[in-house]
Amino acid sequence: MAKPKVWIPRRLSDATLERAQASYDCIINWDDTESGADDIVAMSARVDAVIPCHSERFSADVAARLDPRLKIIANHSVGVDHCDLPSLKARGIAVTNTPDVLNDATAEIAMLLMLGAARRAVEGDRTVRSGAWDFWSPSFMVGKQVTGARLGIVGMGRVGRAFARKARGFDMEIHYYNRTRLPKDQEAGATYHGTVESLLSVADFLSLHCPATPETAGLMNAERLALLPEGAVLVNTARGALVDEAALMTALDSGRLAAAGLDCFAAEPGGNPGFAEYDNVFMLPHIGSATVRTRDAMGFRALDNLDAFFRGETPRDLL
Ligand code: DGY
Repeated sequence: MAKPKVWIPRRLSDATLERAQASYDCIINWDDTESGADDIVAMSARVDAVIPCHSERFSADVAARLDPRLKIIANHSVGVDHCDLPSLKARGIAVTNTPDVLNDATAEIAMLLMLGAARRAVEGDRTVRSGAWDFWSPSFMVGKQVTGARLGIVGMGRVGRAFARKARGFDMEIHYYNRTRLPKDQEAGATYHGTVESLLSVADFLSLHCPATPETAGLMNAERLALLPEGAVLVNTARGALVDEAALMTALDSGRLAAAGLDCFAAEPGGNPGFAEYDNVFMLPHIGSATVRTRDAMGFRALDNLDAFFRGETPRDLL
């Protein structure tokens, strides 16, 4: 029997591509360029499956235009805000994601951003690197201490809990908001808040770990940013859509926020050029899950889902 035809629109890890090619008849975009709506629609007539990343957008419009040949979208991402799930479901297309495997890598980047934002990594690195470091004093580049501070986590799912575990190593006092309260063993001593607003009032550091949905879009708007303690630090490794970037700049200008650490932006790739003016914003280009181990694990999880689907089973991560 002919192998199913699979489109791989981005350069996945070598191990992933090797395994994919052993099991499937693959069309790989070795150029690693982003594919637009028309490319996706055109390709859907040539393949049975696709392994996209969050950069390939399956909007309602794209979903309506997809060729019936395409049976499954096995995402190489945990976030699926680039997929209009109801529209894809209505077309009978299976959609899977890659939960669990990127928890630690993403939590590491959240930790890096939190520390870098709090301890002025942008200014410090630039000062030394540029040769401008000609002065030292006890009052020089004083930052905000992380150890022992109160950490607010919005979204205590797998990544939120992995971040909480790492933050406990810094003796942080963990508070969280989640749609549903966690069982005691998963809370591990963290304090539950029934509303985001209640959490914000105690969050010296606030880290976002919830998915981007119509309900969470613009979650951190001007009103909510104003509820944070004076001099708070915001960390976002989830999705740019969660933060009103103009409101964040205003909160940084006023000093309400001391700093921010951002791995994701409303517009990607590119980010928001306005943040370049802010030395107290430590930024990374959406690399939360970008480690060799995690990229392999994401690719293998996507392939596990695909394998199950083509064996006629329900994929583990079917949404
Ligand atoms: C994810 O898996 O959602 C990450 O943001 C990378 O796409």
